[in-house]
Amino acid sequence: MLVVSLGGSPSLRSRSGVLLERSQRWLQQQGVEVVSYQVRDFPAEDLLHARFDSPKVLDLLQQIENADGLLIATPVYKASFSGALKTLLDLLPERALNHKIVLPMATGGSIAHMLVVDYALKPVLSALKAQEMLQGIFAEDSQIAYGEGSAAAQLAPALEQRLHEALDQFIGAMARRPKPLEPGLLNERLLSARWSI
Ligand SMILES: Cc1cc2nc3c(=O)[nH]c(=O)nc-3n(C[C@H](O)[C@H](O)[C@H](O)COP(=O)(O)O)c2cc1C
Repeated sequence: MLVVSLGGSPSLRSRSGVLLERSQRWLQQQGVEVVSYQVRDFPAEDLLHARFDSPKVLDLLQQIENADGLLIATPVYKASFSGALKTLLDLLPERALNHKIVLPMATGGSIAHMLVVDYALKPVLSALKAQEMLQGIFAEDSQIAYGEGSAAAQLAPALEQRLHEALDQFIGAMARRPKPLEPGLLNERLLSARWSI
């Protein structure tokens, strides 16, 4: 199983990034391969000038094409997901998430915006034709404490439990998803079936 992890925070020290790191580690412990991207690693010029042929964007697309699922996390910015993430999602083709299972996550300063995943992020993922979007996770800043120095960040126990449950469902949904049939293979199967119509 292959998962692409996409972080939408422009900040280097990032709570939504902590959620992704935790998820990545947990998924890897279950034998899932995770390829990680952060929006801030994409050349800003490519994003702001909408360069659809940006090598870094094409590389992301190739990994998504090969993946079973997408893990995506964003900070809440002005009651929506981050603008930086939008500039990247805008460069993906319309069916980029076809056949993919998506687990969306967001962190915000206040629970007033806990529905951002549902009203802001999911419609965009839906426009990219995600096959299945899971419930999603919203975490308030107070539930994620950065560690001192090199110490690991701490998640509130309730958040940690929700995260593990969501990741369990994510793996289950990826295992169940019908695999797209490669066109060449479909043709070969139809020919070898020797059906007469
Ligand atoms: C420019 C900006 C706008 C923000 N707007 C909101 C907001 O509308 N609602 C909210 O709950 N938190 C808001 N926040 C707080 C962030 O969503 C929150 O701190 C989040 O965890 C940051 O994620 P990150 O550390 O991954 O960047 C805002 C933060 C910034 C920097």
